[in-house]
Amino acid sequence: MNYGEKKLDRPIRVGMVGGGRGGQIGYIHRMAATRDFNFQLIAGAFDVNPERGRDFGINLHIDPSRLYDDYKEMFAKEKERDDGIEAVIIATPNYLHYEITKAALENDLHVVCEKPMTFTVKEAEDLKELSEKHKKILATTFAYSGYQMIEQARQMVKHGDLGDIRVINMVYAHGYHNVAVEKHNASTKWRVDPKMAGPSYVLGDIGIHVLYLSRIICPELKIKKLMCSRQSFVKSRAPLEDNAMTIQKYNNGAVGYLWSSCVNSGSMYGMKIRIVGEKASIEWHEDHPYALSYEVQGEPQKIMVKGADYLYPEAREDDRGATDVVEGLFESWANLYSRFAQAMYAIDHGKTYDKWYPNVNDGLEAVRWIENCVKSADNGASWIDYK
Ligand code: NAI
Repeated sequence: MNYGEKKLDRPIRVGMVGGGRGGQIGYIHRMAATRDFNFQLIAGAFDVNPERGRDFGINLHIDPSRLYDDYKEMFAKEKERDDGIEAVIIATPNYLHYEITKAALENDLHVVCEKPMTFTVKEAEDLKELSEKHKKILATTFAYSGYQMIEQARQMVKHGDLGDIRVINMVYAHGYHNVAVEKHNASTKWRVDPKMAGPSYVLGDIGIHVLYLSRIICPELKIKKLMCSRQSFVKSRAPLEDNAMTIQKYNNGAVGYLWSSCVNSGSMYGMKIRIVGEKASIEWHEDHPYALSYEVQGEPQKIMVKGADYLYPEAREDDRGATDVVEGLFESWANLYSRFAQAMYAIDHGKTYDKWYPNVNDGLEAVRWIENCVKSADNGASWIDYK
């Protein structure tokens, strides 16, 4: 159980780039990072518009002298201080991730960068090399991956409760962009522009979240072949897709199906995953994250809930309240941020941190998956060897 007591000697001093007023995801980063006193937010370049960014930072009670015009100024000025930032959170549109992360690592800062980490595998590999060279953590934030019932699913697969894994059915398909909302929504506009979003829309925007859940739950499964078909139902979004179907074959003979879509009309909560083994299946849905369905062939369906005594101990470590307290995405992110802080602290003190968290390799693997999907889709939805 997590009672919010400190895990480090003192909070890690962190700055933020992006995530300003009107930004979709900045608030959840701030809440997750500061929730358990693992990080202290003391500086920022929050907005593409520096004035609006400063005004926003003042409203977060940040010292005005530590609100900067852009990330370059923030990294340079903070470096001159004895109490300068030690880490940075990057929550800008995708096209800035590579250049800001690179600059941050070169300035010896730990980084939590939004997904997708980069546009290309080559760029992600460069960042991995830089993070190793500077001995700094580069982490990323895949939604719900830090949530307890995902850990329970991982432990069940590990302990053989399902038997050999045969099928992974993954869906992240919402309906919020079934028409061209980007005409009047700034947060969607850049997502359908290849210069700002990268080589894909829904594959990189949402597909990689549920892909990461599958990788965390079934870490032994490696993709060997993949085929992807992608479409732009709202024609003005081409060449970027608003719908994509990926089929992948794994090293153990299992198959995976991943539907990424923002045109799934009527779907309000789009993410779910079902793992089918030879003996039993488990299924998890975003709209009731505290529950995991466990279906043994020939027995009545069981619904397991977070915090219960029958869960594996690893799935109870991050509980933040009694069993009947409903939790969700904020808790998942706070759990991830707690691990990020411990990983940063460990590497800075010559120690190792053993628990998993979405690290630079996971950011890289997500970019690799997008690159393979795009290659297959743009090659007539053909089967390709996964590279
Ligand atoms: P948004 O468009 O709503 O907000 C972007 C923010 O970045 C705005 O505050 C904007 O002013 C700021 N910004 C833009 N250029 C900047 C610059 N040069 N310097 C400083 N700030 C700048 O975007 P949203 O939806 O918040 O997405 C941001 C990132 O987070 C994207 O990479 C997206 O893929 C990712 N994301 C991740 C989610 C997750 O669950 N992990 C969920 C939603 C978004």
